[in-house]
Amino acid sequence: MITLKDGNIPSREEAAKKSKGLEGIVAAQTGISHIDGINGRLYYRGIDINDLAANSTFEETTALLWYGKLPTKGQLERFQQKFADNRLIPNDVISILLSLPKKTSPMGVLRTAVSVMATYDPDEGDNSLEANVNKSIRLTASMPTVVAAWNRIRNGLWPVTPSKTLSHAANFLYMLTDRVPTETEAKVLDTALILHADHGLNASTFAARITASTLSNLHSSITSAIGTLKGPLHGGANEQVMRMLLEIGDVDRVEQYLRGMFAAKKKIMGFGHRVYKADDPRAAWLQKLSREISESTNNMRWYQMSERIREIVQEKTSLPINVDFYSASLYYTLNIPIDLFTPIFAISRVAGWTAHVYEQYSDNRLIRPESEYIGPMNVPYVPISERE
Ligand code: SDX
Repeated sequence: MITLKDGNIPSREEAAKKSKGLEGIVAAQTGISHIDGINGRLYYRGIDINDLAANSTFEETTALLWYGKLPTKGQLERFQQKFADNRLIPNDVISILLSLPKKTSPMGVLRTAVSVMATYDPDEGDNSLEANVNKSIRLTASMPTVVAAWNRIRNGLWPVTPSKTLSHAANFLYMLTDRVPTETEAKVLDTALILHADHGLNASTFAARITASTLSNLHSSITSAIGTLKGPLHGGANEQVMRMLLEIGDVDRVEQYLRGMFAAKKKIMGFGHRVYKADDPRAAWLQKLSREISESTNNMRWYQMSERIREIVQEKTSLPINVDFYSASLYYTLNIPIDLFTPIFAISRVAGWTAHVYEQYSDNRLIRPESEYIGPMNVPYVPISERE
């Protein structure tokens, strides 16, 4: 049953008006993550995101999301080992990447590769929880390999074989550059991955759950989710923030640029959120990480420009800052190509998507809302020879 947040069941007409974009509609129950949008708080399995960002790793956070509680030392070691053992992608998938036009977007490549990888997964036809956990490990471990391999292939370079010893975050940077990253670089990316891993019933997670609700398989659900994350109103916003920073070019031009944006009533990427009324708690961490990496590389340009944008936007509007704003300057300063920003979001969010798919299967009912028809009725069928 779909209800409004106040618990009322709306009439069909009321529902259609009130719920454009399904705002305020509770469409699922979940034990995975909770957003307190009024106070700007986020919890994974009840644990404050601030505690996870300060203390956890992406691997540990993934185990928390999947199994519902923090792993013991031994469990975490085994879990990390499984990740490390499943990083390779089938040679046939590399062949497919080699055959794609070099201009294909990395998100398009990732969506295609995940869909294709279903056919190579030994558990493809098995929808049991055990099989789905195994599929999730393979997918989560190998999606970074796809993204890094594509970036090298499109630049005429051979993919770097994944390491079996580096952490998930460090290995991704290693596969991108063929250089083992510094501890700071790896730690910064690891924290960013923790922050992006789950976020209530966001659009891509909803897409994954809708697909799972038809009892389609896990790879299909994740393919739906990747296609949904790609859009500039969702995960694609981090790339748009960077394009805005580049277009502005200098901190002295920020004010004039924003004046033009306000006058034209254009959306400023990295601001606004359906659920948060206060600033997104992930943004404070990404701001800190962006500052750290900018200081450590002696390149404060993009961070300072971001600070000035935030100052002016929040002086003139009540828009909260969101997760995508500081991730732009952070990834750019880490020398990551702009069109890999959203794939990085995806290689983290797959942890949450897969957890939501298990949750959906565990108490499934087909997700099938209704629409209110507002088109004409009783329209005669005109034979083709009589049409104008
Ligand atoms: C993510 O939901 C999640 O959990 C998503 C996410 C996750 O972890 O998965 O948090 C990740 O997707 C973050 C959002 C990234 N997107 C952007 O940064 C794009 C820019 N922001 C927006 O377009 C917008 O704020 C949304 C899409 C994020 C939210 O859209 P809503 O809830 O549908 O709100 P809206 O577009 O109807 O805006 C309400 C009002 C409008 O003004 P009025 O017409 O009422 O006068 O706020 C204004 C909007 O014009 N507004 C903005 C704005 N965002 C909203 N005005 C200027 N700049 C903006 N960014």
